[in-house]
Amino acid sequence: MAGGAGAGAGGAAAGQATAAAGDVPILIAEFPLNRLYTARGESKLFEIYVTDGAGRPLVSVTEGKEVSGGGTAPGGFADLLPKSAQTAGTREYAASGVPMLAAYSPVGDLGLFTIVQIPKARAFEAARQLVTRSLLIAGVVCVAALALVFLFASSLTKSLIALTRATEQIGQGQFGVQVEVKGGGEIAALAARFKRMTEELSTREAALKDANQRLMESEKMSALGQLGAGIAHEVKNPMTSIRGYAQMGQRKLPDGHPLGEYFRTIVRETDRSLEILKNLLKFARQETAEMSIIDLNTVVSDTVKLVSHQLMMKDVRVEARLCEQSLQVSGNANQIEQVLLNLFINAGDAMEGKGGGTITASTDMPDALTARIRVADTGSGIPSEVVKKIFDPFFTTKPVGKGTGLGLSVSYGIVKEHKGEIAVESKVGEGTTFIIRIPIARQASEGVAAAAPAKEKRVRVINLR
Ligand SMILES: Nc1ncnc2c1ncn2[C@@H]1O[C@H](COP(=O)(O)OP(=O)(O)O)[C@@H](O)[C@H]1O
Ligand SMILES: [Mg+2]
Repeated sequence: MAGGAGAGAGGAAAGQATAAAGDVPILIAEFPLNRLYTARGESKLFEIYVTDGAGRPLVSVTEGKEVSGGGTAPGGFADLLPKSAQTAGTREYAASGVPMLAAYSPVGDLGLFTIVQIPKARAFEAARQLVTRSLLIAGVVCVAALALVFLFASSLTKSLIALTRATEQIGQGQFGVQVEVKGGGEIAALAARFKRMTEELSTREAALKDANQRLMESEKMSALGQLGAGIAHEVKNPMTSIRGYAQMGQRKLPDGHPLGEYFRTIVRETDRSLEILKNLLKFARQETAEMSIIDLNTVVSDTVKLVSHQLMMKDVRVEARLCEQSLQVSGNANQIEQVLLNLFINAGDAMEGKGGGTITASTDMPDALTARIRVADTGSGIPSEVVKKIFDPFFTTKPVGKGTGLGLSVSYGIVKEHKGEIAVESKVGEGTTFIIRIPIARQASEGVAAAAPAKEKRVRVINLR
């Protein structure tokens, strides 16, 4: 076969058996090399050979070379091809020390073989690259996922730590604590609820403190009242006797006797003491006043008329601004009048140093159940350290003989007896406002409810079952 097969680019060996006498018969086979070209075109990595049965290359199609005759593989493929059977197969072997992957297949019955081989390193290169790239991508994804998890976890723990710290602070009574949690999600919703809870707690704490303060105040007043009433009772009788004997002595003395002046002084001073004791008893409210339905607007306007003349002499103007509704409360008009008189007198005193001013007595209903009276003056105002004590019995800033310190404590007792409240707002140099709130009498407040718009009435649900 050697030298019998014409090989060249695109060439083919045309074969025809011709036998002449004495000639050695030659078998010429035609081998279409263009198919090798086609196979070669599909991959530049493969080397393609056509060998004889002993593995000697006849034709090779290797990278960068044309289809050519002769072997280029050193030593041929004797080791590769099967020794006996004409079978196809694949094998790994080393060609000049280079590990190769090869596939061989017999070509018809000619005893020829086609071999396709590729260096092992190149064959697995794509797979190796794929594995490397996959590992790289997996690594990047893992790092990114870890970073994300870390970020999420750290923001979560940060929020939880903030919430825990806030809980501790609330436990210590610091209700103003703020918890800032950014973004949305359940933790943010929890923080929002937490914030609402602290606000509610803070409001309740303030209300509790306020109620506690009032309770202490009313307990203090009640203790003072009991004490005062006890003393007043004990002192009132001997004082009345002293006064009686002094009057008797006065009558027995002849006119112009020098002792007459002493008796007169005793009567005057015991009168003053008895007046104080009377006030003390009033503050303690030992005797209960008769209550009836009264209109506070009427009481206010009557009292204003009563004092305006007297106050005008001090250059003080008194104004009444009454609301249009009638303020019906269950009360005692004389007592309320006394409260208002105390307030007007105090206001007049506070404006004395200023050389006149205005007292405004106004009434209104802040809600359907409450009547409110305000007595505002443009006087000296009350310093904050004094405000706390002004309702205490015997607290006065006025000189002896002018103030007894009982006016406001008596007023406090009266307002309490009317189930109401008295409060004060004051600014030094600007003036003071006393505010009295008394509940509207029940039948009157029911009247207000009846006069409410029809829409509100319809909302009332009566369950008949
Ligand atoms: N309108 C007011 N302006 C400034 N201070 C006032 C006013 N009303 C009351 N006060 C203060 O409250 C104190 C107590 O008042 P009160 O109980 O009526 O006793 P008194 O008038 O006998 O001093 C007063 O001495 C005064 O210091
Ligand atoms: Mg007074």
